[in-house]
Amino acid sequence: MGDIFAPIHKDTTYFLLINGEFVLSDSGRTITGQTPFDGTPTYTIQAASREQIDAAYQAATKAQRSWCRVPLWKRAEYLHKAAAILREHADEIGGVILREVAKNVSASKQEVLRTADLCDYIAEEGVRMEGQLLTADSFTGQPRKKLCLVQRVPLGVVLAQGPFNYPCNLTGSKVAPALIAGNTCVVKGPTQGAVAALYLTAAFHFAGVPAGVVNFVSGRGSEIGDYLVTHPLCNCISFTGGNIGLEVAKKAHMIPLQMELGGKDAAIVCADADLDVAAKCIVSGAFSYSGQRCTAVKLVLVVQEVADALLEKVLAGTRKLTVGRPEDDCEVTALIDRNAADNAEALAMDAKQKGAQWLTEFRRDGNLVYPLVVDRVTEEMRLAWEEPFAPVLPVMRVKSVDEAVQYANRLRYGLQGCVFTQNVNQAIIVASRMTAGTVQVNGAPARGPDHFLFLGHKDSGINAQGAKWSIEAMTKLKSLVINLPEEAYMVAN
Ligand code: G3P
Repeated sequence: MGDIFAPIHKDTTYFLLINGEFVLSDSGRTITGQTPFDGTPTYTIQAASREQIDAAYQAATKAQRSWCRVPLWKRAEYLHKAAAILREHADEIGGVILREVAKNVSASKQEVLRTADLCDYIAEEGVRMEGQLLTADSFTGQPRKKLCLVQRVPLGVVLAQGPFNYPCNLTGSKVAPALIAGNTCVVKGPTQGAVAALYLTAAFHFAGVPAGVVNFVSGRGSEIGDYLVTHPLCNCISFTGGNIGLEVAKKAHMIPLQMELGGKDAAIVCADADLDVAAKCIVSGAFSYSGQRCTAVKLVLVVQEVADALLEKVLAGTRKLTVGRPEDDCEVTALIDRNAADNAEALAMDAKQKGAQWLTEFRRDGNLVYPLVVDRVTEEMRLAWEEPFAPVLPVMRVKSVDEAVQYANRLRYGLQGCVFTQNVNQAIIVASRMTAGTVQVNGAPARGPDHFLFLGHKDSGINAQGAKWSIEAMTKLKSLVINLPEEAYMVAN
C-alpha cells in the first residue's frame, strides 16, 4: 500500500484532520511528547484552537447528512478497508504505540491487529442490525389496523475520546460502531497516544470515507476538553478515561453517553480454588501492561485458609515477570508519566506505614515501578479503595467469601470482578451478588474478545460497549406507525 500515512505528518510533527485535510494548528501551538521510559522527545502534536474544533464539528455535521444515506453495505466496505490498512501497517502503528505509551513490542502490534479485527466484526454486525415490527392487535382490544416499525437511527456527531492505554484500539472501538451506524466523528486523541489515535482515524480517511466523516483534534484536555464535550454540535460522547469522566457526564446536557471510567476489579479466591489457575490469572491480570488497564486485578480478596498457599504461587509468578524496556518486550515497563509513578509510590508507602507487608521489594527507577505485592491490606489504607493503575497488587485476607463479596460491593467502582472456585454453584452465587458489569469465573478480568459485552456499574461507567452494544449506544430508536385501511388489515395471510 506504500507510504499512505505520509500526509499525516512532516518529520516528527503530526497534524490535525479537519474536513478531509491534514492541517497544522492555526494557533501555532504544539505539544511535544516524551517517552515514558526516559523522557526522550517523541512526536510533536497540534494544540487545536477553538475555531478548529468548531470547523471539525461543522464538517462532521454536514458530512453526516449524506453519510447516513450511504448504503449500509457500502459503509461496511469502508470499515473493512480501514481494517486492511491497519493490518498492513500494524508494525508501523505498533511502533508508535510503543514509543508514545511504553507498551511492549508484541502488545503494541497486537493492539493494532485486534483493532483491525474489531473493525471487520463491527462491519458484519452493522449489516445485520435488525428492527422490529409490532402489530396493533397484539394489544388487548385493538384491531390489526396499525403497524409499528421500530428501527435504529444515528445520533449525529459522536465525540470519540479514548485513553492513553489503548490509543488505537479504544479509539477504534468508538469510531467503527459510530460510522457503521451512520454517525460521523470528531476524534480527540489522548495527549500521550495522540499519534496512534491519529493513525487510527487516518486509516478510515485513507479507506476513502468522504471528507468530514472522520475528523481528528489534539490538545490538552485541560484546555479544550470542556469545549469539546459541551459543543452544541456534539450529539454523543463516547469516553474512556479516569474520574474526569464524572465531570464530563455532569456537563453533557441530554447527550447520550457511553463511558468507561476505570475499575477496582477484585479477585475473590475461595478455599476450594485451583490455586495454580488463580495465581496465574492474578499475576497476568495485575501486571500486564504494568497494571495500566481498567480491567487489571486491583485487589485480591482471599479467604484466610488458602492465603499463604496462594501468595506463594503469586510471588513465584511475579518474580518471573520481565521488567524493563518495551523494545525488549518486557511485561512491566515504565508507567505513562511521573505522576503515575509518584501515585504508585504514595499508595505503597501509605500501606506500609499503616501496617501492610510488602512481599516484594519496592523499587522504582524514574517512571519504572517494579511489580509489588502488598499483603495484609486493611480498610484504613488507600490501596484498599483506590485504583493504582500501576504494577502494585493489594491483597486483603478475609474470613469468608461472604465478607469478600460484601467488601467488593462497597467499592465505588463496578467494572469487572472475578471469582476462583471449583464449585459451579459457588461461582454463580458470588458472580450474581457482585455489583460489577462483568464477573469472570476462573479467569482474570478482561474486556475482550471485543464483541463481548463490556460495561461498568456504579462509578465505572454508563452504557455498554462490545460490537452490538456499541452500535446500540450510538443510535436511537425511532418508530414509524403505518395506519392501514380496512381492506389491507382484513386480508387474511
Ligand atoms: O478500558 C478498558 C481497558 O483499560 C482494558 O482493556 O482489553 O486490557 O481488558 P483490556
